[in-house]
Amino acid sequence: MGQLESSRSERGSRDQKKADRPRKTEDRQTGLVRRRYERLARIYDITQWPMERRAHRWRRDLWERLEGENILEVGAGTGANIPFYGAERKMTVTDIAPKMLEQARGRAAEEGVAGTFEIADAQNLPYPDNNFDAAVATFVFCSVPDPVQGLWELRRVVVPGGQILLLEHVLTEIPVLRFLMRLLDPLMARLWGAHISRETVDNVRRAGFSTVSDTDLSLDIVKRVEARV
Ligand SMILES: C[S@@+](CC[C@H](N)C(=O)[O-])C[C@H]1O[C@@H](n2cnc3c(N)ncnc32)[C@H](O)[C@@H]1O
Repeated sequence: MGQLESSRSERGSRDQKKADRPRKTEDRQTGLVRRRYERLARIYDITQWPMERRAHRWRRDLWERLEGENILEVGAGTGANIPFYGAERKMTVTDIAPKMLEQARGRAAEEGVAGTFEIADAQNLPYPDNNFDAAVATFVFCSVPDPVQGLWELRRVVVPGGQILLLEHVLTEIPVLRFLMRLLDPLMARLWGAHISRETVDNVRRAGFSTVSDTDLSLDIVKRVEARV
């Protein structure tokens, strides 16, 4: 913070201060998302139960496709993916909301799964470049305020040629549904902290991955996305 303030005063120019504002807004939004998930943490799994009956298969298939041993998971939430980690992998499990991550840690203990658990913002990961073999995120980039920045960070911390695997709900191409999803997006984001009209496959391309492919899992709304650094 002190560093930020001193660099601002060095710049001194009014225009530059204005240019700093969007980042501050992003930080505020990230704080809102974190607090929302902190509040939800205790009841999150109950609210997800109906969807989780279907998601279980999507998760299993995703983890079967994963290559490499040193894996980063961002936005791990309450740890719904933990049953799929496998003993042979070295897992780094992260989330921005401490109470969500605490639940994940508890689930890992119950399952007898080892991992490193860390609070981390996907938009600003505390890891060096080329640090992981692969990265996974499931139903995360709908709530990250700057998804391209978050995906850019995944690309930075994964080795060249490494995989990024995502499960995400995205904006449909079906006209009536598309209209409704766009209409309801602000309300859903406010109530639930998640955007329902994100174009995540395009966002992955914008983040500069070398190859990007997607598979429809439920209509064209829930997708598995695979990208290579
Ligand atoms: C819808 S939940 C999904 C949780 C889990 N991945 C799953 O599949 O059940 C979204 C998770 O992303 C986390 N999250 C949101 N914004 C984040 C950010 N900027 N960095 C890291 N995690 C974030 C939330 O705290 C929450 O745990």
